[in-house]
Amino acid sequence: MPINEDDRRLFLKNTLGLDHGYRLGGKLHQPSYYSWLEQLFHSLMQDDTTRRLFQQLADWDRYTYRHSFDVFLLGSLLAHQLAWSNIREVACGLLLHDIGKTAIPRSVLTKQETPTLAEWKLLQTHARHGYDILTTQGYSDTIASMVYSHHERSDGSGYPYGMSASSLKDPIRLLAVVDVYSALSLDRPYLSAVPPHQAVSMIRDEVGPLDPQYVRAFCELLGIFPAGATVQLTNDASAIILDMEEALPTLPLVRDNQTNETFYLPIDQTIQIHQWIDPF
Ligand SMILES: [Fe+2]
Ligand SMILES: [Fe+2]
Repeated sequence: MPINEDDRRLFLKNTLGLDHGYRLGGKLHQPSYYSWLEQLFHSLMQDDTTRRLFQQLADWDRYTYRHSFDVFLLGSLLAHQLAWSNIREVACGLLLHDIGKTAIPRSVLTKQETPTLAEWKLLQTHARHGYDILTTQGYSDTIASMVYSHHERSDGSGYPYGMSASSLKDPIRLLAVVDVYSALSLDRPYLSAVPPHQAVSMIRDEVGPLDPQYVRAFCELLGIFPAGATVQLTNDASAIILDMEEALPTLPLVRDNQTNETFYLPIDQTIQIHQWIDPF
């Protein structure tokens, strides 16, 4: 499907607004992934309702708009890495997951101070508002459930219902991980962003509430792992991540578990991290 110039520019502009440092991992810098995502975005924009809703988000709250595009990029890459067959549907749920924020007063969304308890309660209603908006427009159950349940957590600590792990379908679990990472690693009106390696550590600490399978897959997608993780290297050795520099989180300091040798992963990438092997 040929991409029109407007969508190409919109995709580029939105992507450039997000890609500082390593927060999107390395994949977007590969032309084939960039083109694939650009095409996916264009195919979603072919639907007039999706285009209109996404534009409404842009007009209502720039932070939520930027965050939604970010979640679309990262979540679609993760679904692609996991070889899901319904990526277009999931991508639509990712892009519109916070559409219910258009029903929340702008003064609450853009407030510079930490929200009050009453404001938190009001903010939490965006999940139900989003569900109502999308079901009225005839979106699929999968998409509507992603919007309704993206703040639910596997241990029942989320909202709106405190659902248990067994009720949360895979697209919701994937979205929850990417949503938290995006929220932590982008500036919010009332909170500054943390660097990607810190966001990854915070997500690891949420394993239990967040699905460990998707936390692991997401770290592998970014190529950024929390300190303390045990990984398998491409030379087959197992190693523990000790530390990393903020500017080079994909080249951490590691200790080989057999030889006890400590070294930074080399810039020439002759040794890389193959996978995260900690049991959860
Ligand atoms: Fe949300
Ligand atoms: Fe979100």
